[in-house]
This record gives sequence, structure tokens and C-alpha cells, in this order.
Amino acid sequence: MERTEVVVIGSGIAALKTALEVSKHKHVILITKSNIRHSNSYLAQGGIAAAISEQDEVSYHKKDTLAAGQKYNEVHAVVKLVEEAPLVISELIQSGMQFDRDQDGGLMLGMEGAHSQRRILHSHGDATGKYIMEHLIDGLKKSTIQVLEDTAAVELIIGKDGSCIGVKTLKKEGGFVSYYAEQTVLATGGCGSLYRITSNSQTVSGDGIALAFKAGARVRDMEFIQFHPTLLFINGKAEGLVSEAVRGDGAQLVNEMGKPIMEDVHRMKDLAPRHIVAQTIFSYLQRGEKVFLDISMIKDFKKRFPTVSSLCEKSGIDLKFGKIPVAPGNHFLMGGVEVDQWGQTSVASLYAVGEVACTGVHGANRLASNSLLEGLVFGNTLGHFLAHMPSRTIPLEKEHSKCYTLLSAIPDLATLQEMLMSEAGIVRDEAGLTRLKDYLESFDIEKFLHMDVTALSINEITKINAILVAWLIAESALTRTESRGGHFRSDYPREDDSLWLKNSVILACTDVK
Ligand code: SIN
Repeated sequence: MERTEVVVIGSGIAALKTALEVSKHKHVILITKSNIRHSNSYLAQGGIAAAISEQDEVSYHKKDTLAAGQKYNEVHAVVKLVEEAPLVISELIQSGMQFDRDQDGGLMLGMEGAHSQRRILHSHGDATGKYIMEHLIDGLKKSTIQVLEDTAAVELIIGKDGSCIGVKTLKKEGGFVSYYAEQTVLATGGCGSLYRITSNSQTVSGDGIALAFKAGARVRDMEFIQFHPTLLFINGKAEGLVSEAVRGDGAQLVNEMGKPIMEDVHRMKDLAPRHIVAQTIFSYLQRGEKVFLDISMIKDFKKRFPTVSSLCEKSGIDLKFGKIPVAPGNHFLMGGVEVDQWGQTSVASLYAVGEVACTGVHGANRLASNSLLEGLVFGNTLGHFLAHMPSRTIPLEKEHSKCYTLLSAIPDLATLQEMLMSEAGIVRDEAGLTRLKDYLESFDIEKFLHMDVTALSINEITKINAILVAWLIAESALTRTESRGGHFRSDYPREDDSLWLKNSVILACTDVK
């Protein structure tokens, strides 16, 4: 058992930024189930959006973010994101972060889908996430933050007053250790790896959402899942991301005959919002046709996109033919643990930031390159907020009976990944979602909320968390009887403005029957 002022769970950009800010005034323990270089942020290619060019304005970035989010966004969160973007970028640059520059020393700004201006900063071509993360890791090494790797968060600890008082962990080498904290921050990312086809790191499996849900926190908008249009797709398997910046530099999606497929679909063609491009590619794949990214027009492809090039080479794709086979896959969760503008969840002293959190900033679909930005902006705010929060006495732990042991077998993750892909994927309908929900409820998930985790293995805990998160997705997607952004229902193919205005799907553990 250990005590600290603030415990941060996760190792992506939101976790590091929050921890670094808090650590200026308080003691922080940062816990990650893998290691500090293992996160979706580290894999991020495209870049980070900010309205910093002379032609651009914060109001244009706001307009593009709202249009991509199908106007379902919380406007105050969008205003915060776009207004603070130039500030966090300039702080990063002042602290030594190197973004790519042109021959005259000006920042190079890329284009991506649904942006009206060139505003994407990038580093080392398409290795932006890696270099921002290395920059923050340098900061971490100079800080007082205590980093614990190979330490999985398995349960949030709740005090007698109902507040969160820390986290129970399971070490890779075995053994449960509890970390008691005045304030606890979830920065564990989304749930991409619950789907068979994903751009996400395999460690991103929704644990933070399940932990918060089990602790009584409200979870919101879980039906809104972004499928990135272009994952490198070979023999039915996704091998990694092909950045949207590739289309931003002119690449076109073509069918097997080389005919462009986005021409008549949307006025922005290949740079249409991601859900439109993903749904179009999906319709070709469903008919048994292949789709390629034609990159033949991009000069110096290997220099501009070293990460994509090396991924293709490793997967046996010869770039001299100028065609990369692609398919859409799960990329980002717009929903998550409901938070206010500071990151406060509905459970006292429990905070969430980054992809695990739902501020409503992305609405029904996230604008490209707004996710690293979200981690920096909201991590900065939460970090400052916690750093200056008065200390509190940690109350005693709430007593509760955890009587259930695991009786029935739980499914393997591969079965669940396949079910989510087919029944709650790019195109959904009532029949498929009901099949998924019935399947999940056959595991008596109410019991999963009260299991004694110390009687379980890490595999069992991961599967139980996965089933709970899958249930949240199925329940939310069934409830929303319209199509909007990342949620497309073939039985309700249109947006229904009468439905969405104040009707967010919000679930709490009392909704599990
Ligand atoms: C990409 O490089 O296409 C991904 C960037 C993002 O999801 O914002």
C-alpha cells in the first residue's frame, strides 16, 4: 500500500501532460500497464491541428470541428480546444519540441480531411506522435513523478464518503498493490483494440471506461466510434495506419480498375469527413472489391512519409507500384467517461482526460489531428486545476461485499472483437446490435460489476472489462435511432435533429439489469 497526492493512470499524451503540470506542485505517481513508450499517442502519425497560419483563424478551426462532429459537439469545449491550441503549440516549441519546417524556417502545415485550411503541424514527416511523446518523456525524466510500468489498474478504490481514493493494481510479476491518492486521474485512452480491425495499440482495450463505470461514474456517447478510412489491409488483416495526411498531400482512393471512388460522393472528395470516406470504402469491400490509395502523384513519398513507407515495406508492399491496399478500422472513441470542463467525472475526486473522457468536444465525429491536441489542452487544464487544489484527508475505504467468483467461462477476446466488428461496426442495425447485446448479457454482466478482482487473473479482468465496454457500446448504439457521424444505422439512415438535441445516451451501472 502506498499513498500519494495524485495518481495518474495511463501513458499517452493526456496522461503525461496532466502529470507534468500537477508535478510542479504535488507528488504524482503515474501508473501504466505496459511501458511509457506504449500508447496510441506514440503511434500517431498525421499531426496536431492549430490555427496558426496567417490565412487561418480560430473561428475556422471551430467551424471545421463542429462540422466534422455533425454539430453534436459541446460548443464550450470546442471553443476551449481551438482557442488554446496556438498557446499549447507555442509552449511546446518554446520548450524545445521540433516540428517540421520549410527551407525558410517557417512551420510546415499539412492538410487533412474536413479541414478548410492547412493547419496540421507534423514532426519527422509522419512520426509526430513519437516525437511529441519523446519530448514529454524527457520532461518526465527531469520531474519528480514516480513512474510505475507493468502495473495494471484493476479497480478504483471508493471511500466511505463515495469519493475515489485511489486504485488497486496488479503487477506484471504478480501481486495486488493499492495506491491511495487524494485525487485519481484516468488517462487510459479509448477501446480500439476491442475491434478486430483497428489502428490502435493492442493495449488500448477500454479498461479505464470499465473501471469508472464499475465505480459508479456516468459514461456517455459510446455509440460514436470513428473508423479511420485507411488502414494498411493485407489478407484480411490490418497492419497499421496510413495517415490521412497522405490524402492531404494528394493521394486518391481508387478501385481495382484505378477509378477514383470519392469523386461523386462528397464535394471534398478524398478529404471528406472520415465517416463518409470509411462508409464508402466499406461498401466496396462488402461487395468483394478491393480499394487502394493511389500515391503515384506524391513526390518523395518515402521522405515525407517514412513511417507509412517502412510499414508498407515490412508488409511486402512495393511502393514503386504506387498503390497501397486499404480498409477502414476502429480508430477513435468520441464517447467515454462523462466529464466537465476540468475533467471531473460524476464520482468525486475521480478525473478523466484524453480519449477515455467525454467532454463532448468531438461531437459525433472527431476532426483529424484534434486528438493529440485534446490531450495537451485538457491535460494542461486538469494539471493546473489539480496542482492548485487544496489537500484533503483521504477517507477510510468503503466496506462492500464482493461475493462473486467466476462461474461460467468468459469468451476469448477474438470472438468479442469479431462480434463488435460485425454487429457494432461501420454499419449497424437493430437486429445486429440486439444479437450483440443478447450475447453479452448471456454472461450475467450484472455480476461483473461486483466481482472480487483479487480472485481473478489479468486475462480474466481484461475480458470482463471488455465485455462491459462492449455492452455500453451495444446499449448506446441501440438507443440512438438515427445516424450521425461515427454512428451509422442502416435502419435509421438519416440524422434526426429532434432526437439528439438534449438526448445524449448516458449510462451508469444502475442501468445494468
Ligand atoms: C492520421 O494520421 O490519419 C490520424 C490522425 C488523427 O487521427 O487525427
